[in-house]
Order: sequence, then C-alpha cells, then structure tokens
Amino acid sequence: MIGKKNKTLGEFIIENQSSFQYSSGELSKLINAIRLGAKVVNHEVNKAGLVDILGTAGDTNIQGENQQKLDVLANEKFIQTLTNREIVCGIASEEEDDFISINSNDEQHQNKYVVLIDPLDGSSNIDVNVSVGTIFSIYRRITPVGTPVTLEDFLQPGKNQVAAGYIIYGTSTMLVYTTGDGVNGFTLNPAIGTFYLSHPDMRFPESGKIYSVNEGNYIHFPQGVKDYIKYCQKEEGDRPYTSRYIGSLVSDFHRNMIKGGIYMYPKSNLASNGKLRLLYECNPMAFLAQQANGKASDGSTPIMELQPTELHQRVPFFCGSPKMVEKVEEFISKY
Ligand code: AHG
Ligand code: MN
Ligand code: MN
Repeated sequence: MIGKKNKTLGEFIIENQSSFQYSSGELSKLINAIRLGAKVVNHEVNKAGLVDILGTAGDTNIQGENQQKLDVLANEKFIQTLTNREIVCGIASEEEDDFISINSNDEQHQNKYVVLIDPLDGSSNIDVNVSVGTIFSIYRRITPVGTPVTLEDFLQPGKNQVAAGYIIYGTSTMLVYTTGDGVNGFTLNPAIGTFYLSHPDMRFPESGKIYSVNEGNYIHFPQGVKDYIKYCQKEEGDRPYTSRYIGSLVSDFHRNMIKGGIYMYPKSNLASNGKLRLLYECNPMAFLAQQANGKASDGSTPIMELQPTELHQRVPFFCGSPKMVEKVEEFISKY
C-alpha cells in the first residue's frame, strides 16, 4: 500500500476525479497535460543559465534555430502540449495577441474547457536565477461544444473558474492547484520526474507579518495604500511587519500563503489599473486564495466578481491573508 506521504500527483488526480462536479475524466486529462507541460518547462528553466553560456557565440543554436526568450519558449511548450492532446477547445495566453481556437480532426471531439495561461511569470527574474512560475486558469466554455470558441468563452468572471493553479520553478519545483475543493501542493522529484503531494490542504494564516509591494512606486500610490504601508511599518501590536518582494507574483503569493502575508499591486500615477492581468494572473490567484482561506480584491470589489471586458485587461490587486486584505480595503475606502 502506498502511504499518504508518498502519494503522487497522478494518483491524486485519479482519486479525486469522481469528486468533480461534471466528472467525465476530461478535466483530469487536462490537469495531466499541464503536469506534463510543467515538467517540460521545468527542464528548460533549469538549463537557462547553461543555454546562455553556450549561446554567447551568437543568437542561433547549433541547429541554426533562433534562441528564444524563456517566456516565448514556455508559451510554445504549454500550447503544444495542450494542443497535441486535443484536450481543450481554446487557449488564451499572456504571450499571444488573440486567443487560439483549437480545431480537432476528430469530429466526435467535444472538448468543453478553455485554458488561460501566463506561461512564465516573473520573467525579469530569469537572468538572475531567481524563482519564476507559470499560472493557469480553466473554465468551461459558454458557447456550444463542437463550434469554434469565441471571445465570450474567455471573458468570464473568475467565479466561473473550474480549476486554477501555478507551477513555481524555485529551489524545488512545485505544482499547486485547486479544482474548487481546497488547494494542494506537489513537489517534483527531479531525479525521477514525479510530483509528490507534499503540501496537502494549503491555507493562508488568518493574518501575517509580511507585506509584498514594489515600494519604489510608493509616491505614485493612492493615499489609502500609502497609509496602509505606513500602518504596516508602525510599531504597535504585532507590527512592524516585514517587507518581502521577489517581483514574481507566483513566488510572492506562495511564500505569503505559507507564512501569512499580503501581496499588493495597486493602481498608481504610473499605471492607472496597476500592472497585473485579470485573466492570466489575478483570477487564478484569487481562486487559489479563496480556496485557501485567503482573499483577493481590487481594493474594493472581490476579484472574481469582476466582469472582464478584454483579454489583456489589467486590474489593481490585493491578495493574501484575509484580515490583511480587509485592512487595506478599510484604508482605501477612506478616500
Ligand atoms: P510577467 O513576468 O508575467 O510579465 O509578470 C510579472 C509581474 C508579476 O509577476 C510581478 O509581481 C510584477 O510583475 C512585478 O512588477 P514590478 O517589476 O513592476 O514590481
Ligand atoms: Mn506574470
Ligand atoms: Mn508572463
């Protein structure tokens, strides 16, 4: 018998298949395809430094192919993996101008899911060997199966998500996801290429001592956010808090979920809607947060209530331990 501690992601997916609301095995296959994509991209991320060294002679590799930026490569790998398996009817990616409609040769093909993806999050960290990630979000299509997908299938509010998760390529590689029944984290054993359940039922502590924000933008933030940052720094009660900002949402979120904390990307004089993308970053993180006792808001409205109007839409983002998100909302509401 396999002990609980040794459960693999593959086993976990099979065991949990029957608990999905409309269990046909399709979502399980889709999570499996993402698991495979994760391993492929993990392999690329891990050799990134090496490729750089080998690539100094020019910008083409030995096969004469252009060397690609890792975010473009990650995008291609995930799209290839999902397309080849004929497991989704459409994909939208941060790296693509428009959504991709997937036409299957199989006339019987009745795929009902669309995937939205940030193939490589925190890409400015690649060159300096700091953790990066992949974020994904899965919805059931709105338009009828068997017809080409339309924009409407992708512009759904986050509350319609069926599954969401991220892969963190860190000191170890993890896949963390939810299908609406809590959040579970799996760590890759690179020697044998298998993910193991290492973090069952992940949960944000009610409150925390970490705030994560790009403080270089401080003078451009709205007054409510400035006041909240000063509150975090004030010596009173369990404060001052600690500031931690990796600049890779996946890594900052992951740390805050484990230790307790808040991640903030407010609007500012520099960016009227902040920087993060509603569909590829904020909605999947909001779903994970909600499933892990956390909260996500644009400063006043829960992220997953927002009705998207365009694919690459940006939105201010406050996410993490519930008490901390409520506190920053309280400060913002004063103005
Ligand atoms: P991406 O690499 O997918 O463009 O996303 C980067 C995002 C997010 O991961 C990170 O928290 C944020 O941008 C950092 O932005 P600043 O450098 O403006 O702080
Ligand atoms: Mn990103
Ligand atoms: Mn990205």
